[in-house]
Amino acid sequence: KILDDVSFDGLINHIKSKDVTKIITMAGAGISTSAGIPDFRSPGSGLYDNLQKYELPHPQAIFELDFFFDNPKPFFVLAKELYPGSFKPTPCHYFIRLLAEKGKLLRHYTQNIDTLERVAGIPDEKLVEAHGTFHTGHCVLCRKEYTQNWIKEKIFNDEIPICTACPGIVKPDIVFFGENLPDKFHHCIQKDFKQCDLLIILGSSLVVQPFASLVDRVPHTCPRLLINREKVGQTSGIMSMFGFGGGLEFDNPDNSRDIAWLGDCDEGCILLAEKLGFGEELKKLISE
Ligand code: OAD
Ligand code: ZN
Repeated sequence: KILDDVSFDGLINHIKSKDVTKIITMAGAGISTSAGIPDFRSPGSGLYDNLQKYELPHPQAIFELDFFFDNPKPFFVLAKELYPGSFKPTPCHYFIRLLAEKGKLLRHYTQNIDTLERVAGIPDEKLVEAHGTFHTGHCVLCRKEYTQNWIKEKIFNDEIPICTACPGIVKPDIVFFGENLPDKFHHCIQKDFKQCDLLIILGSSLVVQPFASLVDRVPHTCPRLLINREKVGQTSGIMSMFGFGGGLEFDNPDNSRDIAWLGDCDEGCILLAEKLGFGEELKKLISE
């Protein structure tokens, strides 16, 4: 048995009694909804339910290369709306920063492109922006690099950014469906996950690959905590009944390491900080 008591409090005891210092956090859009940024898949409020005005063939087309080459306009209109800079980090972001400051964070993997991790002060070397960033951009034809400011000016003037060296469109370096993830992602997952001693998954539906499968890369003895509004990441069907197919195993009768804490990320992180003895520090950071 990995956890004597397979519950949230059992996990807290485990963290306190073992010397847990190699925590990996994995995040999705759910950690930024309390900052006012919609997630993708929540029914009603999620971005994919609110793209009617762009007249897309299907919602995810806005992040698909083929569609973008055909009609880049919808993506740039949306980019203007969601442009990073006007939002503030959440308690959850500050919780992750505190883990880093306490020397307990091995790495934070985020699928988010809102840059709130940087704003919250999570150090660059602790951060893997798995789906890229608005920081830089490249011409899709000749790969010429452009700065965030150059692209931003075009976006805010409602212009499609066109390369100065060729007729290509300049796309911010956020990862579209069908594109490769950044080198840093591939490089870091190789060395990080095998040494992880606690995995915390925050605010993601865990449906987009390859990110979702990272949960299978930690050692079999590593506890995994999900903090999310809904229970996600379990492999369903006949395969999982026989323990195949990977994923989180809350409902598996043999589970002794996976815990689902269902609720809001901010609340979950504040509770975790309190139980681990740095609740006051977190509150101070939030109110600054
Ligand atoms: P999703 O929208 O798929 O999932 C967000 C999850 O967070 C859902 O399970 C929500 O229930 C939950 N959630 C929302 N707000 C929450 C809160 N305040 N507290 C706790 N849970 C909350 O977002 P992602 O998993 O990030 O990729 O989506 C993954 C990728 O799909 C994105 O990076 C994006 C998208 O297509 C690209 O664009 C390449
Ligand atoms: Zn070019």
